[in-house]
Amino acid sequence: MPSVSDILDNLDYGPAAEDARVVESWLAENSAGFGHFINGAFTAPEDLFDVESPATGKVIAKVSQGDPEAVKTAIESARAAQTGWAALSGHERAKYLYAIARHVQQHARFLAVLETLDNGKPIRETRDIDVPLVARHFYHHAGWAELLEDEFPGQQPHGVCAQIIPWNFPLLMLAWKVAPALAAGNTVVLKAAEYTPMTALAFGKIAQEVGLPKGVLNILTGDGETGAELVGHSGIDKVAFTGSTEVGRVIRKQTAGRGIPLTLELGGKSPFIVFADADLDAAVEGVVDAIWFNQGQVCCAGSRILVAEAVAPRFTELLKARMQKLRVGNPLDKSIDMGAIVHPVQLDRIRDLVGKGVEEGATLTQGTAPEGCFFPPTIAEGVEPASTLATEEVFGPVVTLTTFRTPEDAVALANSTAYGLAASVWSENVNLALDIAAKVQAGVVWVNATNLFDAAAGFGGYRESGFGREGGREGMGAYLKSPLKQLGEPEPEAKAPEAAPGTQMSATTIDRTAKMYIGGKQARPDSGYVYPVHGSHGAKGLAGLGSRKDIRNAVEAAHKASGWGKATGHNRAQVLYYLAENLSARRTEFIERLHSFKMPAEQAEQEVDLTLRRCFWYAAQADKFDGAVHSTQSSYVTLAMHEPIGVVGVACPDRLPLLGFASLVLPAIAMGNSVVAIPSQSHPLSVTDLYQVLETSDVPAGVVNIVTGPRDELAKTLAAHDDVAAMWFFGTPQGCAMVEAESAGNLKQTWAEVAGLRDFTGPDGQGRAFLQKATQVKNIWVPYGE
Ligand code: NAI
Ligand code: MG
Repeated sequence: MPSVSDILDNLDYGPAAEDARVVESWLAENSAGFGHFINGAFTAPEDLFDVESPATGKVIAKVSQGDPEAVKTAIESARAAQTGWAALSGHERAKYLYAIARHVQQHARFLAVLETLDNGKPIRETRDIDVPLVARHFYHHAGWAELLEDEFPGQQPHGVCAQIIPWNFPLLMLAWKVAPALAAGNTVVLKAAEYTPMTALAFGKIAQEVGLPKGVLNILTGDGETGAELVGHSGIDKVAFTGSTEVGRVIRKQTAGRGIPLTLELGGKSPFIVFADADLDAAVEGVVDAIWFNQGQVCCAGSRILVAEAVAPRFTELLKARMQKLRVGNPLDKSIDMGAIVHPVQLDRIRDLVGKGVEEGATLTQGTAPEGCFFPPTIAEGVEPASTLATEEVFGPVVTLTTFRTPEDAVALANSTAYGLAASVWSENVNLALDIAAKVQAGVVWVNATNLFDAAAGFGGYRESGFGREGGREGMGAYLKSPLKQLGEPEPEAKAPEAAPGTQMSATTIDRTAKMYIGGKQARPDSGYVYPVHGSHGAKGLAGLGSRKDIRNAVEAAHKASGWGKATGHNRAQVLYYLAENLSARRTEFIERLHSFKMPAEQAEQEVDLTLRRCFWYAAQADKFDGAVHSTQSSYVTLAMHEPIGVVGVACPDRLPLLGFASLVLPAIAMGNSVVAIPSQSHPLSVTDLYQVLETSDVPAGVVNIVTGPRDELAKTLAAHDDVAAMWFFGTPQGCAMVEAESAGNLKQTWAEVAGLRDFTGPDGQGRAFLQKATQVKNIWVPYGE
């Protein structure tokens, strides 16, 4: 007779397939094909393409390829519905969102099965993770709708939002986009991913069931062409995109100069860092959830394991043993760990990248996978930090395994990609774990955990993983705008400065020849030229004619000042107070300087006094504009930290030369950024007078760098510079378009505004909104309890 342990050893899994009949009969009823969901109804199916279930290769439905006409109709219906939707009270909108949440729960099983059929991900995940998070997201945002007037006073929806989602979490990504948009009073045109449009269409049915007013939500099916048509349409007011970094760049360029706010949630190559003192068994389970969850098709997947050399052999052994136990197969089977890859195209992509990795010297250890659209769980060792597998997003169940010696090594390796979406840190030493969490460049860091999500915490990337957050207060903020309280006239275009021919300038009329200010030192312009700065009677001074080279030097100097970002808020406040004090001591001099450049005395006085006020205000904020602790999952503290963005380029408006500069540079440095600023092109001298004030105020070298000269040309270099993390630009509409387009290179955050519209002397000239622009939020999840 076999012993109990023999039985347990040989126990095989029987099939435990989820019953898919309800979904199959719904699909059969609609076998003629699905139209788009526009203006509260489904359009007649046309120009159909097949939707496949990747696990079986079978066609499960036919959906319509959205053409320009469909895009136009959807946008028009969203436009027609928007005013009425925004006019409802937050409470009224909340009721619809609650109803959606409830209906999602009622249809939970249906949605889970449909998602699994369409996408290939295990039913275990759609049932326990995707769909519950969808409901949670709508509940949470019903709450924001309810509280909108209290929590976001004076803010308004953008209007019609164009939203484009990927195929890896089809319904969840819909929820992340639709819930905040509707809560804020926007209407939506959403394009589902071509591989996985089915749950979005089912969601259209839910919108009908709850009686969502017509046109508030419109759903298009189609491929990238439909997406491009939607983003390119002049009738939209906001774009939110989740998908590849490549398409993110295309969209950044396509929306440049159109005054459309953009949020991008892009790829990642997230590190999974295991320290020697980690609970190795827990860390191994962590890897399972990090890279073998959803077949590794997760933007924040922990795809690079960095393990301390001391425990690497043991950890690797445990991990490989665990990997061999993973069951890959029919995703409808409730005891399957990994399902199918979303589409054969994607499978080819994974094979191709892994093939390249092997050519570059990687050795693979793989689990097993059935025939068809499946890929085995894979560990790649011997991967060099600069190689394909270590830098490119594979978007499959493939993880690299690299060792490190010291925590500094681990951080350097962790930050050695262009991405910055997420990170996972494993250590039983909370001091170490939090220290590393602070040093890793990522929008989300999980300590002794991975892939945790909640509607109450923001999610989104640093660097080339995109910008903007989804979830939480920041996520709501992305769907709201604060209109300027007073709207000024756009500044007339200032002529680009030209090098001054020395002979025209007589020494008697020239007050001063200003240099640049780079790395805490006055520097001559690389061009060797200066340009005239005009006062009431001709040229009054000369300023350096800055060029690309000066900008590059300034960016380098700004990088060296990164210690400023680590200083305490209190330290930064002290420096800003000191700055205020020193400027105050020279108040009269600054007023006279402005006056000498055609500014009426009273106005000059106001400008200097407001500048002083800014110094005090941002000094006061330096240790107060802090983060939050979010209420997410039980047994986790979710810390939302405000971190500086890094090096910020600032191109100042022409008018109000001193105040414009101060209003932008002060919030940036108060939050720990270092700045490369281009002061007012026509009147840079009140800013160049600040050099001594900066020096005497203990502003560390490189924190503020100033390059005078042609604004647009210099701004272009800054906007295109890969080591600049954000670009603020106040200038012409063409300049705004240029900056936004150039920023696509490293996907830096931009704030481009037509100069003159904002009155820097009034309430729009200072506030928390500036501090928000100057920070990025990192969410750190820390577990507690046994
Ligand atoms: P993709 O970025 O092309 O697709 C995402 C969405 O964008 C889809 O709805 C698609 O139809 C749409 N789209 C494509 N081109 C567009 C355009 N020019 N304008 C507007 N919308 C457009 O991603 P794809 O090709 O499906 O996957 C390729 C790779 O992208 C993956 O291997 C993975 O590395 C990455 N990816 C990352 C995702 C993430 O969540 N970060 C999600 C999906 C893919
Ligand atoms: Mg499919």
